[in-house]
Amino acid sequence: MTTTLITGGTVVTATGRSEADVLVDGETIAAVLAPGSVLLGSDLRSSVDTVVDATGKYVIPGGIDAHTHMELPFGGTNASDTFETGTRAAAWGGTTTIIDFAVQRYGERVQDGLAAWHEKAAGNCAIDYGFHQIIGGVDADSLTAMDSLVDEGISSFKLFMAYPGVFYSDDAQILRAMQKAADTGLLTMMHAENGPAIDVLAEQLVAQGKTDPYYHGIARAWQMEEEATHRAIMLAHLTGAPLYVVHVSAKQAVAQLAAARDAGQNVFGETCPQYLYLSLEEQLGAPGFEGAKWVCSTPLRSREEGHQHSMWQALRTNDLQMVSTDHCPFCMKGQKDLGVGDFRKIPNGIGSVEHRMDLMYQGVVTGQITLERWVELTSTTPARMFGLHGRKGVIAPGADADIVVYDPAGHTSIGIDKTHHMNMDHSAWEGFEIDGHVDTVISRGKVVVDDGAYLGSKGDGRFLKRGLSQYLV
Ligand code: URP
Ligand code: ZN
Ligand code: ZN
Ligand code: ZN
Repeated sequence: MTTTLITGGTVVTATGRSEADVLVDGETIAAVLAPGSVLLGSDLRSSVDTVVDATGKYVIPGGIDAHTHMELPFGGTNASDTFETGTRAAAWGGTTTIIDFAVQRYGERVQDGLAAWHEKAAGNCAIDYGFHQIIGGVDADSLTAMDSLVDEGISSFKLFMAYPGVFYSDDAQILRAMQKAADTGLLTMMHAENGPAIDVLAEQLVAQGKTDPYYHGIARAWQMEEEATHRAIMLAHLTGAPLYVVHVSAKQAVAQLAAARDAGQNVFGETCPQYLYLSLEEQLGAPGFEGAKWVCSTPLRSREEGHQHSMWQALRTNDLQMVSTDHCPFCMKGQKDLGVGDFRKIPNGIGSVEHRMDLMYQGVVTGQITLERWVELTSTTPARMFGLHGRKGVIAPGADADIVVYDPAGHTSIGIDKTHHMNMDHSAWEGFEIDGHVDTVISRGKVVVDDGAYLGSKGDGRFLKRGLSQYLV
């Protein structure tokens, strides 16, 4: 068993910061020590195998990205990152755990979808990984299958109020699935957009010759998100099922979540970096077909309407609890370009798994969130929300040694020809200049990224059997 001592840094957790050394023994954190202290009478500095000097740097729990789609078959193609490329890119960016979505579609068996996801991921991941289960077809068989998910370590599942004919569930199906969730303790994750109405609007826009990527955002109007969010909250209330709304982008949807939370309901929401930084006007509305890079659902929202500002505010007030990426990368060539002349055919998704920690740190730099809140939003709450608390999301004795040394004085230039490890032919974050730098990444005790070098290997990451959510009241 190798031992590592991370010295001289400022250990930052969700609850505070302190000057401390972190001792790693094998795969776990052995101790968090006052600077210069000795353990069991021995001089640690001479007895450990590796010393990482974190002077002037932050020592934080590794990032947990609870919303990724490696290799997702979608829009007539597959998301371009495999578990191998996507998890390696995540590690580069200071993320040491992902929770990806196993897929079941109408007419398919949940067990088969889950087994297929295990097959894709096993032996290929750079970091630890868990799964949520997409239930794209709620029927008697899938409802029965939901009974065994918790035992499989899959304590959450996702339903879609959007994408009719693909993943869509109607209200009757949602009601039945939520009743099952209330019985089993599964956490219901919801893609809250009114898909049938959106499809009519999209068809009408295309018939009028409005085929550019920009109109993806017009068809998927905020009213469609607010309405579906409200409906999901009401169905959850009725059934007693806790609800977690994914990729929230409209300020009106946040207001629905906030009202339900104020009324005492177990309702939670995540947003993603794209909804904090990018907009309908600037990115989706880029000239020609360029906007296709930013076609995702829910869509980028209008900056004039102030959604981005509201997302930051909701992160501060805990109306939104987490930031995940919804990493779902597609190349422009051969993938996004399927939708030239018809925005409905552009595969939906943005690749960000590599940049989430850096992008969210900018919120600290600009004073929008505290250092502790940065850690909470990107690591500690994801662990608690999805049943990994104790093992992940903390710097504490006994926890997995998933640790990032982050240099606030460093700098990261994002761009396809710069720092870029995702399997994409473009970057949705091209030109972003980051104050801060991921210097060292330790995954279950192994240094996998250090000083600009990747030191890990394929298969380092293990499947995480997750417990029930530890965030519910
Ligand atoms: O555009 C997106 N979000 N693609 C991934 C699938 C989903 O709905 O999360
Ligand atoms: Zn979704
Ligand atoms: Zn998604
Ligand atoms: Zn650096």
